[in-house]
Amino acid sequence: MQPKNGIMTNRRNDEAPFVFGVRVEGETFTDRRDETERLKMNFKYGVNTILISPRRMGKTSLVDKVCSLTDGSEVRIARIDAFSCRSEYDFINSFATAVVRATSNRWEEWIENAKVFLSRFVPKISFGQDPLNDFSVTLEYNASNTTTEDVLALPEKIAEEKGYRIVVCIDEFQQIGNFQDSLTFQKKLRSVWQLQKRVSYCLYGSKKHIMETMFQNHSYPFYRFGDIIYLQKISEEDWVKFICARFEATGKHISESIAKEICKLTDRYSSYVQQLAWFVWLKTQDTATEEDLRYAVNKLLDSCEPLFIQQTEDLSSYQMNFLRAIIEGVNTGFTQSAVLSKYHLGTAANITRLKKSLTEKDLIMTVAAKRIEMCDPILSLWLRERVFSPN
Ligand SMILES: Nc1ncnc2c1ncn2[C@@H]1O[C@H](COP(=O)(O)OP(=O)(O)OP(=O)(O)O)[C@@H](O)[C@H]1O
Ligand SMILES: [Mg+2]
Repeated sequence: MQPKNGIMTNRRNDEAPFVFGVRVEGETFTDRRDETERLKMNFKYGVNTILISPRRMGKTSLVDKVCSLTDGSEVRIARIDAFSCRSEYDFINSFATAVVRATSNRWEEWIENAKVFLSRFVPKISFGQDPLNDFSVTLEYNASNTTTEDVLALPEKIAEEKGYRIVVCIDEFQQIGNFQDSLTFQKKLRSVWQLQKRVSYCLYGSKKHIMETMFQNHSYPFYRFGDIIYLQKISEEDWVKFICARFEATGKHISESIAKEICKLTDRYSSYVQQLAWFVWLKTQDTATEEDLRYAVNKLLDSCEPLFIQQTEDLSSYQMNFLRAIIEGVNTGFTQSAVLSKYHLGTAANITRLKKSLTEKDLIMTVAAKRIEMCDPILSLWLRERVFSPN
């Protein structure tokens, strides 16, 4: 099987017990029973879904899992990753390609579907080693206004003709917010999609703040488009079970209390739990010790450091001071004069600007009761240990 990030993810003896940085499946995927069920029902009954969470919590992994449980004769799944789409044109090409691909079993059918449903498209085909199953086709068209709508109507047409439902899953959906004249495009999408009966959409993306604006702000076209699922953290109980079991499966041991510490340090952020557990596992001879954990935390900070430097190097001193206040336990009441002066935050009016700019950078988020928290627990740890109190 394929190495992912240098880590083997197959089920042989040399399989890595923990996986991070890529979507997870099989034994490295844990829990998410409720969300899996809810998403499965939405797919089955054609409910549009929006999936929101902080970064690297497990959106892509969850959707992939539900897709593999659902894809079949009654429901077909078309998947698009909009990450590399820079324009409406790119998006429409990916959309057409994904829909035709999802609804064709063989390449002859592929071509047939493309011809019947999309006469203006030119298929570009390249073959791999096995020409019957191993091929890649992309569709390209000559841009014109009517064609965009034709393409958007495509899944409904195919679904009707073939008598099944289609779910279109679009990852990194926030990309369309960057297209030129994006709001007009979003209006177009929404107006076509909301009338479709046999097709539903699952939209998700890694930029939490933009996703929230697109779907929760009533002046945006996608306001109230569907069921918004906030992906919650996996419970400590499930993580501890998972971590201990993965150690045991490879002939090593870890106590529940150290597994719990892993959860606390990472605030149960999925990717970090796996990454920290991985470093602990690497260091562990036989049974994980507190020392192994301390070593692993440093390893984790080392490996994140380049990214954290990049995320913080352009921040103004006011912005850094604001982060420092949060890290030292201030979560509300930033405009109080004691807080303003202790952390050198400038005027009360400055606070509004700081909150806005740091929220847009996805560095902070507002949680219940207007409390402000850092988005990334390990960035927070890094700032605390290596920036604000270096020794
Ligand atoms: N159900 C799960 N069980 C165990 N680990 C998980 C689970 N979901 C996610 N993870 C961990 O989190 C990492 C990121 O997962 P994934 O790519 O699915 O998240 P994402 O929310 O789509 O991330 P992004 O915001 O970057 O798009 C995985 O590599 C894995 O380490
Ligand atoms: Mg993702």
